[in-house]
Amino acid sequence: MKGFNNARSLIVTGLLLLVTGASAALAQVPQRMPFVEPDFEIPEGPVGAAVELGEHLVKDTQLYAKGYVGNGLNCSNCHLGGGITPNAMPYVGLPGMFPIYRPRSGRVISLQERINGCFRRSLNGRPLPLDSPEMNAILAYMAWLSQGVPAGVEVEGRGTRKMPPPRHAPDPVRGRALFLDRCSHCHGEDGQGARNADGSYVFPPLWGDHSFNIGAGMARLNTAAAFVKHNMPFGQGESLPDQDAYDIASFFTTQPRPDLPGKEKDWPLGGKPVDARY
Ligand code: HEC
Ligand code: HEC
Repeated sequence: MKGFNNARSLIVTGLLLLVTGASAALAQVPQRMPFVEPDFEIPEGPVGAAVELGEHLVKDTQLYAKGYVGNGLNCSNCHLGGGITPNAMPYVGLPGMFPIYRPRSGRVISLQERINGCFRRSLNGRPLPLDSPEMNAILAYMAWLSQGVPAGVEVEGRGTRKMPPPRHAPDPVRGRALFLDRCSHCHGEDGQGARNADGSYVFPPLWGDHSFNIGAGMARLNTAAAFVKHNMPFGQGESLPDQDAYDIASFFTTQPRPDLPGKEKDWPLGGKPVDARY
């Protein structure tokens, strides 16, 4: 019953944070992350099967959601470890956070709709039917990862921790030189990643037809810079100075990539972030 004890201590910590939290910001619980694998078991039966399918879907989206993906990426290329890594947009705790109001949509959206946002943008594909086995499997996997996190409480490391604003205007020319030095041996000098003989990617592409589209969160300067700062070069997160992360992000986010039809409908009620690309 290891998982249960963890759950209990998390709830206690969560309540303490709720009581002592200084600001009106969402209460946070410390996340049991990074961890290699969740320490609770996958249940027997249909729910367990859905959890397993959900894990496959996020780690091998290319195969398991074939008809819905329009580029070369898997969810876990960005949601590292399949959604268990802090500051790499973890999935832990998300079922208890949604529905949320999203300025980009100008309305309250469900977790399913948020997942489909990444299908349309990050995977340059099309949305899963809301009641499909695939959608329910992704939800089951996220719920399984989120055991013990109280509903309505944000885990530490949700999203990707924002950095202070850059000291100097981000410089894509300097960013290109840094990219060639620090990133290109994996992602390729042309940013197209590296493939296995069967065409699958060993290292995912950062721009071009097989990468995320212009409407993706990763196409925004501040989001990309923070993701890179905390997670790249792969295995050496936190090693780049902030300005380098901004310069590199200002280079690769502005390289050619797929467009997003209908992007002009984003932020219908305002609230567009300063680093939006359109
Ligand atoms: C190219 C990188 C990338 C890929 C691939 C990607 N995402 Fe995301 N995802 C992001 C980023 C960046 C954010 C945060 C964006 C923001 O808040 O502006 C995000 C946010 C999310 C959120 C909301 C997280 C929160 O804390 O509210 C969910 C859910 C999500 N993604 C699910 C998925 C799923 C499922 C897939 C695969 C079908 C996927 N994503 C593929 C980059 C990606
Ligand atoms: C040692 C190889 C390696 C190096 C060096 C490296 N990356 Fe990555 N990068 C990866 C791998 C592998 C992934 C996918 C992780 C996964 O699927 O678990 C990734 C994912 C990414 C992603 C999200 C997926 C995508 O294609 O958009 C971005 C953005 C990224 N890297 C940017 C960078 C930048 C910028 C640098 C240089 C500062 C860099 N990386 C250096 C291996 C590397």
